Amino acid sequence: MLDFIGTHKRSHTAGSLRKSDVGTPVTLMGWVHRRRDLGGLIFIDLRDVSGTMQIVFHPEQSAVHQKAGRLRNEYVISVSGTVVARDERNINPSMPTGEVEVEVTELLFLNDSEPLPIQVNENLLADENLRLKYRYLDLRRERLKNIILLRHRIVFAIREFLTRRDFYEIETPMLMKSTPEGARDYLVPSRVHPGKFFALPQSPQIYKQLLMISGFDRYFQIARCFRDEDLRADRQPEFTQLDVEMSFVTQEQIFALMEELFAYVFRTTIDVELPIPFLRLRYHEAMNRFGIDKPDLRFGMELVDISAILKSSEFKVFKSALDAGGSVRCVVAPGCASYSRKQIDRLTEIAKHLGGKGLAFTKVDDHGLTAGITKFLGDDEVKAILKATGAQAGDLILYAADSDKIVFKVLAEIRNHFGRELKLYDPKAYNFVWITDFPLFEYNNDAQRWQAAHHMFTLPKEEHLPYFEKEADWGKIEGQLYDLVCNGVELSSGSIRCHRLDIQRKIFGVLGFSEEELQEKFGFFLNALRYGTPPHGGIAPGIDRIVMLMSGAESIRDVIAFPKTLQAADLMSESPADVSQKQLNELSIKLNLPADD
Ligand code: AMO
Ligand code: AMP
Repeated sequence: MLDFIGTHKRSHTAGSLRKSDVGTPVTLMGWVHRRRDLGGLIFIDLRDVSGTMQIVFHPEQSAVHQKAGRLRNEYVISVSGTVVARDERNINPSMPTGEVEVEVTELLFLNDSEPLPIQVNENLLADENLRLKYRYLDLRRERLKNIILLRHRIVFAIREFLTRRDFYEIETPMLMKSTPEGARDYLVPSRVHPGKFFALPQSPQIYKQLLMISGFDRYFQIARCFRDEDLRADRQPEFTQLDVEMSFVTQEQIFALMEELFAYVFRTTIDVELPIPFLRLRYHEAMNRFGIDKPDLRFGMELVDISAILKSSEFKVFKSALDAGGSVRCVVAPGCASYSRKQIDRLTEIAKHLGGKGLAFTKVDDHGLTAGITKFLGDDEVKAILKATGAQAGDLILYAADSDKIVFKVLAEIRNHFGRELKLYDPKAYNFVWITDFPLFEYNNDAQRWQAAHHMFTLPKEEHLPYFEKEADWGKIEGQLYDLVCNGVELSSGSIRCHRLDIQRKIFGVLGFSEEELQEKFGFFLNALRYGTPPHGGIAPGIDRIVMLMSGAESIRDVIAFPKTLQAADLMSESPADVSQKQLNELSIKLNLPADD
């Protein structure tokens, strides 16, 4: 009953026909998106990647009409006929092809289809796991398809822009030695070298720096990266970076290049004009004002440090935090004085979940502060808090008292919560900001040692080099490190690299690597630094996060054709999966699985 394509050729795509095509003979091929029968006429919405087109079968064409009667959703067909204008009253302004339809004279059944396990022609969404199992069908849905096509256009624009700026795209290995990006590696066993493993790249970091040593000057790569870490709404175990590296550059030049690149990509793909240059915030300023190094700048509600105002407070919550060297800070939720006990309890739960001990509050009325912890505050403190915060009658003030780290974490989340809850921002706005001057090292209290705050191959600021002399100063060393943040999402990280071996050794000294560890882990890289390494630096924007931002997708799974679940599994191919004993034997691998309980 099925037909072969024979000598039929597709003449047009379904989404491309317009009023100017009326009278044109066409052959379209695609899927039956929807079928409607009306007073003897059969209407089919024919779908292909470009869109949908209405096809009409008239009863007068009896053979074709009869055949069309057997069409079901998702059958694959070829139709030949003529483009005609629709009656005035049948025009569909919501469809780009809505002014025309095709009157069919020939119909081929290229393939049939069983009823789909998930619907693709309506907005009602099936359970996500079922959709992931049938991902190839879910990708027929217009929204997902459009995101994947947008992704293509974004990557194309990036390649176009960088190629014109004399960048070379160079591939780097997928099978490599484990590099230190900080997450866990995905390992690949070697058959040829029993007991030895490759790691999949967490990023091409080391290779791109080696390419600078080779003299390529300007490199980029649309690079797949692999990280075995806890997944979240904006993280996948395999994801894609636009990896960039340049020689003989300063941070300023990298910022300017990226600003022009982002402006170009937004303009050419979604017709949005980004104002450049982007705003900049020093790391410490971002923390003090927003409590986080990826602030959402689409709204205000900045943190206010009221530690000085409360320095003689007898309220035990504030006193104990300040005595322990912490701080008391607050945010003002505009117009939220009417919040109920229950609503405030919910906010307190957020604070506790993040490691806070609680969340104190006061409300503001015409006379000053009221409710919550007002009774613990003196008149002068009340006045000073109102002045420092600028809070108005009808507002709610929320206070966190703890170590700076906890206070920042809690209030940053509370601030973002209100941003969403009170719709304090325009969801269509894009607020880009560079976060600069990150500290190079941070002390890990649990491990009792210093660790790289971002990246251990970063050049410290020249004026901070003397701080390497004393451990007491290590926390003050700032690196030439930067993040690009948009709407509260970290889009990119980068740095000016440490091209000098003498300085790199100082960094390893702080991190406490032994000479043997260094040789074993990065001996080849340290060797390379000896042979005329140019000053260089770079950045790596996450492509998936850029596509999320530009498409408005809420989950990173929506911007990747075949994503993994939050449990790092592929439900469609059912991987990861068992392998045969023969394969394990070849790899000299013996499994040591935890007992099932
Ligand atoms: P970093 O580790 O900060 O830097 O990564 C750079 C950017 O990659 C994206 N990204 C991710 N996207 C999706 N899923 C993930 N699991 C994930 N992890 C990271 C983010 C992030 O900003 N080699 C350095 C870059 C450099 O210094 O040039 C690096 O990899 O958008
Ligand atoms: P308590 O006296 O412990 O019941 O706390 C009084 C109020 O202060 C409650 O609303 C707590 O949620 C809040 N609170 C407790 N600890 C903190 C803290 N570290 N920071 C801010 N508020 C807190």
